[in-house]
Amino acid sequence: MLNTDIERVLVPQKEIAQIVKNLGKQITNDFVGEELVVVCILKGSSIFFSDLVREIDLDMKFDFMVLSSYGNGTTSTREVKIVKDLTEDIKDKNVLVVEDIIDSGRTIKSLKELLEKREPKCLKIVTMLNKPDRREVDIVTDYNGKVIPDEFVVGYGLDYAQNYRNLKDICVLSPSVYSK
Ligand code: IMP
Ligand code: MG
Repeated sequence: MLNTDIERVLVPQKEIAQIVKNLGKQITNDFVGEELVVVCILKGSSIFFSDLVREIDLDMKFDFMVLSSYGNGTTSTREVKIVKDLTEDIKDKNVLVVEDIIDSGRTIKSLKELLEKREPKCLKIVTMLNKPDRREVDIVTDYNGKVIPDEFVVGYGLDYAQNYRNLKDICVLSPSVYSK
């Protein structure tokens, strides 16, 4: 049951809208007169991406990537694998990667290294959420929505076992869900 699985709302819909608006403004101001390739990292960024692109007043193209993390089960050896690659050539383009949340930082670090090899004009990262307490690698994000504490959140595109992505608020999942 959706209602009993949620412990509490962490970022309500209204606050999310305000955060996304501000991010859109910052990005618009930073790239006046330029064109962007905006990259949605599926599936978690899908909702954030859809809202954010409509708050950016610039010429842009959309692109989509699916990533998968593999390793021996520990986050420290995890490597990013591309399941679905970009369709656009990003050489000499302004690329904005849209992430849902930065946790250990490993996903975005590997992705950044991988995309830099394709020689974009510039490569920026925007994340809706940031959990700096969990960071394992050094990573600079250019645009940050909201810093949150070390709690597992769902909703607004974020999942637990592929569920809860459609929740309008960003919510803390009830611990009872993990022990089911
Ligand atoms: P990182 O490589 O540890 O930074 O992992 C980032 C990815 O882990 C995100 O794109 C999410 O898919 C997932 N993730 C990390 N924290 C959460 C969370 O609190 N809720 C849902 N997914 C999360
Ligand atoms: Mg996920």
